Amino acid sequence: MKILLLGSGGREHALAWKIAQSEKVEKLYIAPGNAGTSAVGENVSLSACDFDSVAEFVLGNDVSMVVVGPEDPLVKGIYDYFKGREDLAHVAVIGPSRDAAQLEGSKSFAKDFMQRHNIPTAAYKSFDGTQLEEAYKFLEGLKAPYVLKADGLCAGKGVLILPTLDEAKSQLKEMFDGMFGSSSATVVIEEFLDGIECSVFVLTDGKDYVILPEAKDYKRVGEGNTGLNTGGMGSISPVPFATKEWMQKVDERIIRPTVEGLAADGLLYKGFIFFGLINVCGEPMVIEYNVRMGDPETESVMLRLKSDIVELFEKTDAGTLAGAQVEFDERTAVCVMLVSGGYPEAYGKGYEMSGLEDVKESILFHAGTAVKDGKVVTAGGRVLAVCSYGNNRDEALAKSFASAKMVDFEKKYFRGDIGFDL
Ligand code: AMP
Ligand code: GLY
Repeated sequence: MKILLLGSGGREHALAWKIAQSEKVEKLYIAPGNAGTSAVGENVSLSACDFDSVAEFVLGNDVSMVVVGPEDPLVKGIYDYFKGREDLAHVAVIGPSRDAAQLEGSKSFAKDFMQRHNIPTAAYKSFDGTQLEEAYKFLEGLKAPYVLKADGLCAGKGVLILPTLDEAKSQLKEMFDGMFGSSSATVVIEEFLDGIECSVFVLTDGKDYVILPEAKDYKRVGEGNTGLNTGGMGSISPVPFATKEWMQKVDERIIRPTVEGLAADGLLYKGFIFFGLINVCGEPMVIEYNVRMGDPETESVMLRLKSDIVELFEKTDAGTLAGAQVEFDERTAVCVMLVSGGYPEAYGKGYEMSGLEDVKESILFHAGTAVKDGKVVTAGGRVLAVCSYGNNRDEALAKSFASAKMVDFEKKYFRGDIGFDL
């Protein structure tokens, strides 16, 4: 089978690495990919959101499956685009329909969905700019800290957590005034939940699902979970507090009602669901849904997934996931992200990288890299995911930290405390 994977980050390199291991794959294309994905497939210079060009490539190269990495093309409706064209409808698209992708595309849609289906989440209310006074009243009824969420996609930056009521009010007004453009025309205000987070992933065919290894990511740029939020500075799987008992609660209270809710609401979904959960005194609650895999969680999750992912994708497309077995590697997998100094604010690009070939004990997934004049250079804020297996957390982390030191580029930075709180 010929597969086209859309995206260009560490998540996509990890997915490509896993897909390429399947005997079912005759050819893997990645669009646009990065310097790492070209080692496991063929990079194609296409933008994932240019559906006409993606379609032309798929038809011209006899591709029968498209796996969508990032959320943008999903929220823009790539699934519907393919299914709506007679010449493309036969192509398997791994990802939800546009309507279902609203679970990530609109925070208020996701909250209403959870409320409708009795899925545990923080108490909330949505407001738009015409309801400023009502929104202030709602804030006054909550306790500090205050959580404000821009309704639309904001590349992970649309959530503000404010320590005082005054700050919450002034930031809310700024959000309505366009802090995140049209994405914050509507704002969800919600109750603050105190707990530790965990990312749970499933692959669903719209009726049934398989649960993949869970992971924890480290979102803040600084050690000890301090500083600005990033796309993610590292990840680890398994997560010790995600015990069998806890995962059973997650399945019964969150995963099953979500998949059943999607079906009941007529929302077509054949793809990954990412449950951003928080453990509040032993009880799992949903912080957010994403309609794709997490990054950098995928880098750890793919290391622990033993089953053939392409076989799982085929079952997802055919609607035959019921009873599918997923095998996990018992070892611990970790990912330490090397970033370009300054990230998540302004950072430089185009720095030459060295030492990649010296790394033997870790698997390197490229995130923001490119090839320039035959050399690998940095091309993004998050540059390289340094991933390792170990018989326990410390063993895996020791390998990743040793490898992280071997690779070099100007202004390299990484968090040396991934996994510290587990
Ligand atoms: P989200 O984009 O909704 O995942 O929010 C980004 C981050 O903000 C989450 O990963 C949490 O760390 C934090 N967060 C969001 N909502 C809440 C909440 N209700 N209580 C506590 N922290 C939250
Ligand atoms: N690591 C969080 C995310 O992918 O959204």
